[in-house]
Amino acid sequence: MKPIQAGLLGIGTVGSGVFNVLSRNQEEIQRRAGRGIAITMVADLDTARAQAVVGDKARVVADAREIIRNPDIDIVIELIGGYGIARQLVMEAIEAGKHVVTANKALLAVHGTEIFEAAQRRGVMVAFEAAVAGGIPIIKALREGLTANRIEWIAGIINGTTNFILSEMRDKGLDFDVVLKEAQRLGYAEADPTFDIEGVDAAHKATIMSAIAFGVPVQFDKAYVEGITKLGAQDIRYAEQLGYRIKLLGITKRTPAGIELRVHPSLVPAKRLIANVEGAMNAVLVQADAVGTTLYYGKGAGSEPTASAVIADLVDITRLHTVDAANRVPHLAFQPDQMSSVPVLPMSEVVTSYYLRLRVADEAGVLAKVTGLLAESGISVDAMLQREAGEGEKQTDLIILTHNVREGTMDAVLAKMQALPTVLAPIVRIRKEELA
Ligand code: HSE
Repeated sequence: MKPIQAGLLGIGTVGSGVFNVLSRNQEEIQRRAGRGIAITMVADLDTARAQAVVGDKARVVADAREIIRNPDIDIVIELIGGYGIARQLVMEAIEAGKHVVTANKALLAVHGTEIFEAAQRRGVMVAFEAAVAGGIPIIKALREGLTANRIEWIAGIINGTTNFILSEMRDKGLDFDVVLKEAQRLGYAEADPTFDIEGVDAAHKATIMSAIAFGVPVQFDKAYVEGITKLGAQDIRYAEQLGYRIKLLGITKRTPAGIELRVHPSLVPAKRLIANVEGAMNAVLVQADAVGTTLYYGKGAGSEPTASAVIADLVDITRLHTVDAANRVPHLAFQPDQMSSVPVLPMSEVVTSYYLRLRVADEAGVLAKVTGLLAESGISVDAMLQREAGEGEKQTDLIILTHNVREGTMDAVLAKMQALPTVLAPIVRIRKEELA
């Protein structure tokens, strides 16, 4: 049988990886897919660079629409990224009746509803394993492997750049700015690292996982997003003394009132496996009712790890494209007419526990006032640590770990605490997840 034909839009790091892995492993891939998979066209504005990667194996064009218009092309692989031209081209490819493979988490988290509806209408597949956690097959696991389960929550280290920075801050006791510069010098962080360090990239990925886990639409605009830029080295040290590590987690959870969808730095008990995921690695922890806890670990970025996910999608499409559209695996795991409208909760309704660091005057009654405010609101203290004041020092750090409380209640208490004359600097608050 003639190979299925794919056209690649954008041949940068991931595109080159796709091309190389597909060539290197073509025999095994064909034995699995039941048919050859050939990338016969590549579109890239830098045609010379593209030509250097593909040699004579594919036709290189500057205009992506030449691929979309070509009736011989069955699958369009979008590796351009962003919401602009990538969105237009994906929509045009779908309208042209092409299946789409994309690694574009931003596009799906923001415009997924429109894209999946269009794909449904045209009877084509949009596959996106590479959009979340790079080489880890987490989409497949959530959508198919765990299909028997009622998923309860997901917590993931789903951004390698920030995990690398946090690991370095902890190992070397350095501040965020210093480590970020080093990460940029080593190529771990982008020249413009905003999406990574502000938590936006992780929130895109958490949004997609949330939709698949709970059968709700992708709703990036409802996600709570907080990055790691304000974390201090001393908080990482204090957390360590209390038996915790600080990780940037993407969390989505089912609660009786609605769904939590949030990205923020979190204290995680150091004894949990996920707390020991270091450097640029990714890991996703899933709690589900039948299987219990499962953990998925691996490289979340990079040329060949991401290519591994893209090619898995190509194989899926090759196997399924002759199957009646209604019998394929639904894009978001649940049948399109079975999606739920359960709301995403505002952050004030989220229930979690907290790490608080207060810079306080080292004098009688300060601790009583602070804990008194917590007690008044029914907030129970889990652990406390007070740094011993140095010789002649009149201030100290007070660290408090709380039990679970609604975030809105904690906000109100923190406002009162901050107003105490003996609290001498802005209070640091970091959420804590036991992940038990
Ligand atoms: N920039 C991402 C990260 C990889 O640092 O994990 C692509 O999503």
